[in-house]
Amino acid sequence: MSPTIGAIVGSLRDGSVTRVGLEHALDAVESHGATARLIDLRTYELPVYDADAKDAGDAPELRAEIRDLDAILLGTPVYHGSYSAPLKNALDYCGFDEFENTTVGLMAVAGGGFPLPALDHLRGVLRALDAWVLPFQAAIPDSHTAVENGVVTDPDLQDRLDTLGQRIVEYASIEPDPITFEGKHNVGAGEHESD
Ligand SMILES: Cc1cc2nc3c(=O)[nH]c(=O)nc-3n(C[C@H](O)[C@H](O)[C@H](O)COP(=O)(O)O)c2cc1C
Repeated sequence: MSPTIGAIVGSLRDGSVTRVGLEHALDAVESHGATARLIDLRTYELPVYDADAKDAGDAPELRAEIRDLDAILLGTPVYHGSYSAPLKNALDYCGFDEFENTTVGLMAVAGGGFPLPALDHLRGVLRALDAWVLPFQAAIPDSHTAVENGVVTDPDLQDRLDTLGQRIVEYASIEPDPITFEGKHNVGAGEHESD
């Protein structure tokens, strides 16, 4: 059966370049035979995460939708040198049930020329969730000139997004690694529930 790949858009902005970039990658996902789903955080009510209210708003629906995916693309705008609060908020509602041993691909979009630190930071977050993060990642710098009429214009950027879509399909069903040292010592959010 073909895998289902979801892409979570870390920007809530109507004209988001992150959304356009992920839509491009999802087109590549479909052309490689998988099912594509865009997860637009604007359509979920997700209050700022409170660990005493982990089922607040639409969190249960979001988690169920993510658990239904075989692999996940995360797209973030660069905000103050890192990934965005809406994306982190959505991730905080999730945990190992949604991400452990799940293949994840990363994409970042910056107004300037330096999106890479946001990708590094996001990679660390996904590591803490025991996800399997693709080495290949995509970055869109100079976002104000990157999109015209809802389409990524630069052929090199198009190639990278195509490759991201291709890789997430290729590695969607990878066998999970044995648990790592970090994994054994990483209690995550679940353990705190019994506090
Ligand atoms: C709060 C905020 C902080 C930002 N910080 C940075 C930054 O540190 N570096 C940068 O290159 N662009 C920065 N930008 C610009 C955004 O990365 C850029 O506008 C991007 O296109 C936003 O993503 P979106 O189009 O998907 O909404 C910032 C934008 C906002 C709103």
